[in-house]
Amino acid sequence: MKVSFKYQRSIVVTGIIFFTVLLLTRCMNNDASQNKTTGKIEYGQFAGSASCANCHKEICNSHLTTAHYLTSGIANEKNILGSFETGRNIFAFSFNASVAMQKRPQGFFQVEYIDGKENRAKQFDVVVGSGTKGQTYLNWDKDYLFQLPITYFTATNQWCNSPGYPGRVVFNRPVTSRCMECHSTYAVVSAATGKEPESFDKAKMIYGVDCEKCHGPATAHVDYQTKNPAIKKAKFIINPSSLSRQQNLDLCTLCHGGRLQKTKPSFSFKVGDLLTDYFKTNSTPQFAAEIDVHGNQFGLMTASKCFMQSKTMTCNSCHDSHKNEAGQAKIFSQRCISCHSTEHVGACKMSSTIGEMIGNNCVDCHMPLEQSRAIVVLLPGNDAPTPAKMRSHYVKIYPSETKKFMEQLQSASVKK
Ligand code: HEC
Ligand code: HEC
Ligand code: HEC
Ligand code: HEC
Ligand code: HEC
Ligand code: HEC
Ligand code: HEC
Repeated sequence: MKVSFKYQRSIVVTGIIFFTVLLLTRCMNNDASQNKTTGKIEYGQFAGSASCANCHKEICNSHLTTAHYLTSGIANEKNILGSFETGRNIFAFSFNASVAMQKRPQGFFQVEYIDGKENRAKQFDVVVGSGTKGQTYLNWDKDYLFQLPITYFTATNQWCNSPGYPGRVVFNRPVTSRCMECHSTYAVVSAATGKEPESFDKAKMIYGVDCEKCHGPATAHVDYQTKNPAIKKAKFIINPSSLSRQQNLDLCTLCHGGRLQKTKPSFSFKVGDLLTDYFKTNSTPQFAAEIDVHGNQFGLMTASKCFMQSKTMTCNSCHDSHKNEAGQAKIFSQRCISCHSTEHVGACKMSSTIGEMIGNNCVDCHMPLEQSRAIVVLLPGNDAPTPAKMRSHYVKIYPSETKKFMEQLQSASVKK
């Protein structure tokens, strides 16, 4: 097949998307795998979330819709969000080099064309990202995983280049165990050389951030509860609510703590452990520099007065791990009010100005959307790049956000 593409600057979306991915993996090449932890996790200890459904049906059904569950999986028609339609399936790197996304009898491919001739074709094997901001794709080369050159950007519903290599098509960017530690439940590193990138056992990947990431491997629990159906008390399973505040925070911070430098191999941390036994936690950079797609919600939250003065706040004070509650400002605001009622730690002074409807949205004034530095795309016809927006977890008073909010409120009431 001979294909020629006209290079049009206007269709090029330059994604510096996920460049933090590189930073995150680069700074972790000092894996100290000699430090074996006691109680090592084994693949055989995982029961898989399908087995939980027999007894925890409701939680399982709602968990299927979460960004956690959907954050990685085997690539297929349903979970690849970008378009394969002719006309929408091409990303041009330069006047003579482009990549086309194609559906072929064997599967889905990223195909590199040079001067209109096919040069290389690599299959979409694994999807990473639920698609809240975007998705990136991995290809298996023997037992190693490599990132494909083209990424999907949700805000504009377009293909764009994976970061770092403008003007050149690159298929050799390796994916490390730390990347998979945050984006999957478990992976078996097949050759433990102590160096990154590692090879994986393809048949033993547990995709998605699933039940057993947060509750621990559960074969023993499933066996016990199945053999003892009359016993209504749980055994051999961890409920994070029974852990200390620090243990609770450390579970989420494993993946939401920004750049952490590891001191033990990936996949050795398990729920209930303390992060300081696995990472140099004091290597976390200043929180203000960390609001990004691989964000540091932990750093920002813990810098807030809510956290420092409440003694009880954890991520679970505002988030229900089993549900997808994205965009539901009212639900989140009710959780603010659970601490900020007049009787408790005090209500907002703006209540008297705004009235009762303040309870619908505490978030836009106190946890505003801020621009990401990692997801930045050049939109058609623009000269300056456009950043994606992230929720700041630095809860405080932002006078300029209040002004914006009040102006919007006024113009809405004028329209009525
Ligand atoms: C044969 C039934 C059965 C299966 C299968 C099962 N569980 Fe349970 N589980 C129970 C019972 C009974 C309890 C105790 C009552 C309750 O909390 O619902 C429980 C409790 C729990 C708790 C709370 C523990 C606590 O101490 O509060 C968690 C977490 C949990 N299960 C996770 C899982 C996960 C994850 C799976 C799948 C890998 C799973 N369960 C499979 C029966 C089961
Ligand atoms: C194994 C790593 C891991 C752990 C542990 C983890 N998360 Fe996440 N979390 C992720 C990843 C990866 C995403 C992004 C998923 C995506 O969109 O692809 C995410 C996304 C989220 C989101 C955004 C959901 C949305 O609707 O966009 C929230 C909220 C969240 N996590 C809260 C938590 C809380 C609370 C905990 C602790 C109880 C936790 N996470 C533990 C990896 C993790
Ligand atoms: C320290 C844990 C961590 C590591 C390491 C990590 N990620 Fe992420 N990643 C996250 C979290 C958490 C999010 C969700 C961002 C947020 O809302 O803060 C995310 C978001 C993403 C997204 C966007 C998902 C969406 O639905 O919008 C993609 C794509 C992604 N990561 C790919 C990768 C790849 C590829 C690697 C490795 C080469 C990697 N990440 C390494 C934690 C991590
Ligand atoms: C991102 C982490 C995370 C994931 C993934 C997760 N849970 Fe939970 N789970 C929690 C936390 C945190 C709690 C404690 C909530 C609280 O503070 O009450 C919990 C509590 C529970 C409980 C105790 C009863 C209850 O409703 O609070 C059960 C049972 C349970 N989870 C089962 C599951 C099952 C089954 C799955 C997979 C379908 C799952 N969880 C996935 C974090 C998670
Ligand atoms: C676990 C309880 C708790 C929750 C949940 C909580 N806060 Fe707080 N917050 C506190 C405490 C305690 C303080 C410090 C005492 C005070 O200023 O009232 C505080 C302080 C504040 C402050 C003053 C900050 C400053 O720098 O002066 C704001 C604004 C605030 N909270 C907003 C919120 C919003 C908005 C939410 C929901 C998104 C929220 N809080 C959720 C406990 C909580
Ligand atoms: C005071 C309440 C509060 C606490 C505590 C809190 N969050 Fe959030 N979080 C929110 C709100 C509100 C949003 C925005 C939800 C939306 O509109 O979709 C959010 C969004 C997120 C997102 C999606 C980010 C984005 O911009 O797309 C992630 C990831 C997340 N939280 C993780 C965490 C983690 C991890 C912790 C604990 C370290 C935590 N949160 C603690 C209120 C909170
Ligand atoms: C229109 C923007 C806006 C909204 C909406 C809003 N706030 Fe505020 N909030 C502010 C401003 C501005 C201040 C500082 C007021 C002052 O000191 O005069 C403030 C102050 C606070 C304080 C500190 C009070 C003190 O005396 O230290 C808390 C706590 C708070 N807000 C919580 C909330 C909660 C909870 C909600 C949702 C029910 C909410 N806010 C909704 C703008 C807002």
